[in-house]
Amino acid sequence: MIESIKILPNSLYVKFKNKVDDNFPNIWLRDHAKDEENWDYRSNQRKTYTASLSSKLFIKEASVIDNGKYIKILWSDSKNIIKYSTEFLLNNSLKKNTKNQNLILWKKNEISKKIFLKYNNILSKDGFKRFLKNLYTFGFCVITDCKTEIETVKKIANKIGYVRQSIFGGLWEFESNEDMADSAYTQEELRPHTDSTYSNDAPGLQLLLCCDYKAKGGESIMVDGFKIAQVIKNNNKELFDLMSKIEVPGKYIGDGVILEAKRPIFKLDNNELIQVSFNNYDRTEFRIDEALTVKFYKAIKKFDDLVNSKEFQWRHILKPGELLIFNNWRILHGRGSFIGKRKMAGCYINMEDFRSRCKISGLY
Ligand SMILES: [Fe+2]
Repeated sequence: MIESIKILPNSLYVKFKNKVDDNFPNIWLRDHAKDEENWDYRSNQRKTYTASLSSKLFIKEASVIDNGKYIKILWSDSKNIIKYSTEFLLNNSLKKNTKNQNLILWKKNEISKKIFLKYNNILSKDGFKRFLKNLYTFGFCVITDCKTEIETVKKIANKIGYVRQSIFGGLWEFESNEDMADSAYTQEELRPHTDSTYSNDAPGLQLLLCCDYKAKGGESIMVDGFKIAQVIKNNNKELFDLMSKIEVPGKYIGDGVILEAKRPIFKLDNNELIQVSFNNYDRTEFRIDEALTVKFYKAIKKFDDLVNSKEFQWRHILKPGELLIFNNWRILHGRGSFIGKRKMAGCYINMEDFRSRCKISGLY
């Protein structure tokens, strides 16, 4: 709700009842006018010819109406009164609360049974919403009692968005089998990482279905990268700032392509963490000045120590019929070493499609 407003020379000062206040520049407010003349309600697109707006436009009249629900403004260049809702203004306030407020940042012990959901239970509208909420809140879920076939991966992916095509194809299967190699053949531990640091648009979700498991070890490892960021920020702000500024390049060479991209380990938007990227396997060469180089290697050590500590690692051996799904912009994944046979199927989903599904479902 809006408590009061004040017309200033080039902006409107708005004081909300929750003690937040903000100055909204006239040109910005005018550009976001939503009436029949300025907004196409069928296509949800702007009709305003923004470039033609005068920089000298001003507010002729403004008042708070409907007990603080709306502000109405009469602009110097328009005959119509334009209404702006509290919700719209608060959502666009530079001082608003962060978007991440509904996330639960976790350490290993804070993960409950909530993250396990039965396949049949996520098919209903309510069940699917519960699943999506847990996936959004914790960053990962395990769907149990799935059919051990690649089609299951596709079905779940299509309930959220669609299967992403990449250099590895859309849906994929892989098998590790000791019979195929030396009898002492061991798959080494894969340290926690995020996928596709070499892509400008890293996959948003990864799905991994266990189709067969006759092995020892091979636990799936999940680490909350947002929690790690919070710990580093609270303990060493300088290191956090460094990790949110130095752009680290990733590179993939193979299958007839050379893919390269770079971004900081902690990518921020308006000071808010939106993506964690860390893949020591795929990091390629880059130079920064000597002092920063030393600090960067300290940062890698700190980060790697944290993501490999028991306190932060949730480990679980996926059984046949269990599908692990996780947010690749937040959760680092790894796999313990194993001996034996393990057959998996999986795919990626784009972040924008996951976000879209969350928004449609009213999660944020
Ligand atoms: Fe990976």
